[in-house]
Amino acid sequence: MVNILITRKIPKEFKDEISKLKDVKTYYNDSDKVLSKIELIKAVRGMNIVVSLLTDKIDRDVIEAGSESLKYIANYAVGFDNIDIEAAKEKNIFVTNTPDIMTQAVAEHAMALMLACARRIIEGDRFMREGKYRYWMPELLLGPEIAGKTIGIVGVGRIGQALAEIAYHGFGMKILYHDIKKCEDIERNLQADYVSLNHLLEESDFVSLHVPLLPETKHMIGRHELSEMKKTAVLINTSRGPVVDEIALADTLEEKQIFAAGIDVYEFEPNPVAKLLKLNNIVMTPHIASATEEARKGMGECVIRNIEDFLSSGKIKNNVY
Ligand code: GLV
Ligand code: GLV
Repeated sequence: MVNILITRKIPKEFKDEISKLKDVKTYYNDSDKVLSKIELIKAVRGMNIVVSLLTDKIDRDVIEAGSESLKYIANYAVGFDNIDIEAAKEKNIFVTNTPDIMTQAVAEHAMALMLACARRIIEGDRFMREGKYRYWMPELLLGPEIAGKTIGIVGVGRIGQALAEIAYHGFGMKILYHDIKKCEDIERNLQADYVSLNHLLEESDFVSLHVPLLPETKHMIGRHELSEMKKTAVLINTSRGPVVDEIALADTLEEKQIFAAGIDVYEFEPNPVAKLLKLNNIVMTPHIASATEEARKGMGECVIRNIEDFLSSGKIKNNVY
């Protein structure tokens, strides 16, 4: 028997499919409540596979608690900063994420936030609901057009590249990018230019972040970086909250040092810095950039495929390390 822990409620069809795998016994936290560290440590003992969510902090203590039996952690997310990869490696525990299938969803959400910020969609909606609309006004809720503007994409992995495609083909945007390495595909196909982060921040009308959360990317966008952006610029973050110094962002928005921000992830998730809630020049969504029917289905199928591979061969092809 292979013991599989599913740490929290996932779509029922995937849970059922996992339960039906041959010679498998599943342990399932059938609630929306995130297991505490102590609960995780208890739950992981005796498990061979853990299906985890990005809200589960699988740190060294949890990994060590499970290490006698634990062979594989299947993270139901593309990001895996919730897992101590070094500790998993030391114990020869495989770790997988769910890449590719959610790329388009996240890129589309980044563009949705760009449009919502530029065209002030949420402010307009509030204006209507509050019964403030009396008559058409030439200068009501003005914002920048997107076509022909410059987008700076920080991190051009799959998601950053997909956003570049949308920006280039859909809006004729000029693309600047920054990454630890050059991406010849977007340079060739989308006429993108590789630039330093400072240059990107100074030149871009829209800046969108698509880096993983690592020690080197924490607060990559801080007070200084925000001050380098144009006063008319829009910042989009659909990556991980701590990539941006959120207190500095709140001050920057309050002082109108940039035009707006579209934010899906938070430094102290689930709570945004309180000041943000009072500002009109920010559009906030609750970490839903990958929340399409297609992406969720793909994520579930990816986890199941990986578990099947593991059960049949004891190996995992797309281990993250
Ligand atoms: C979502 O943020 C994910 O990493 O899947
Ligand atoms: C706006 O509604 C216009 O007709 O210009």
